[in-house]
Formats: sequence, structure tokens, C-alpha cells
Amino acid sequence: MSIDAETFRQVLGAVPTAVTVLTIVDPSGADRAMTVGAFASLSLDPPLVLACIGNDAMLAGAMRSATRFGVSVLADDQEPMSRRFAARTLRDVAASECLRGPAGSALLDGASAHIECRIVARHPGGDHTIVVGEIEYAAAFERPPLVHHRGTYSRLAT
Ligand SMILES: Cc1cc2nc3c(=O)[nH]c(=O)nc-3n(C[C@H](O)[C@H](O)[C@H](O)COP(=O)(O)O)c2cc1C
Repeated sequence: MSIDAETFRQVLGAVPTAVTVLTIVDPSGADRAMTVGAFASLSLDPPLVLACIGNDAMLAGAMRSATRFGVSVLADDQEPMSRRFAARTLRDVAASECLRGPAGSALLDGASAHIECRIVARHPGGDHTIVVGEIEYAAAFERPPLVHHRGTYSRLAT
């Protein structure tokens, strides 16, 4: 059985996801960012995470040559960041709005968690590429996460 794109979106939209912003340093040395919901933990030993990047995304080209990426798990007051880094425009990160991971990845100030990883594998996944990173640095903060569900942003009930 095959399903149409609308059904796929409706059904998979029922799966709540955290909202992350993935950052890489592109070949010119600029920080580039993209909103990513398809981010997950993969392995504890070694410590691996994965992110799925659309092959047509602006970031996809630079991602192919990147050696590391940063992940900022957005906090529930960072919806504007999610919208901004999903917009179809150039998405630079300003130095004033980020910290640096030990290896230099931009990590957004005010996030719920920060991760910096070294890319260890890339796997084809239909119209996306599954990028696997080994965690080199991670920190969690006492801020509730932003959640995306059925096409809208939600917050966890406290
Ligand atoms: C909440 C949310 C989650 C998203 N998750 C992903 C994702 O997991 N992978 C992906 O490739 N794009 C994801 N996107 C889309 C990208 O952020 C971006 O909008 C898309 O790549 C189109 O822009 P571009 O072609 O300029 O890169 C998500 C967007 C939003 C708003």
C-alpha cells in the first residue's frame, strides 16, 4: 500500500517532535542554521545522534562537506527562532545570539540543550539524508522545550 503526501503529513504530524536548530560552519567559514524536527538519539555507546536533512534544503550542499554540526534544542519561548531558521532565506547566525561549542559550532543562547557532534556517517533516506553524529559536547539547561505537533507549536503542560 502506498500513501499520498497529504495522508503522510497528517499521520506523521500526529507525532510530537522537539524543535531543534542545526548549525554548521560552511566552507566560507559562516555559520548556517536550519530548523530540524527529525533529530533523535541513536546510541549510548558510542554516543550517537541522528538528523534527517532534506536533499533539496539550502543547507544540504554545505552539509555534505561539513565535518561537525551543532544542535540547539529550542526552549518554549524560542518559536521565533524556529520560524526564522525554517524560512527560505539566507539563514546566518549572528555572533551575539550564540555561544560556541568546544569545536566552534554555533549553539543558540537560551536553548534547552546544546550538542556538538562530529559527523561519522551519512545514509540515504529517500528524499532526505540521515546524518549521524558522535557527540563530543552536550549540556542541558532547566528550560522547557518547544514542541511541534499537527503543524503548530505547543508547549508542555507544567
Ligand atoms: C518545525 C519544523 C521542523 C522541520 N524539520 C525538518 C527536518 O527534520 N529536516 C529537514 O530537512 N527540514 C525540516 N524543516 C524544514 C527546514 O527548516 C526548511 O524550512 C526547509 O529546508 C526549506 O528551506 P530551505 O530550502 O531554504 O532550506 C522543518 C521546519 C520546521 C518549521
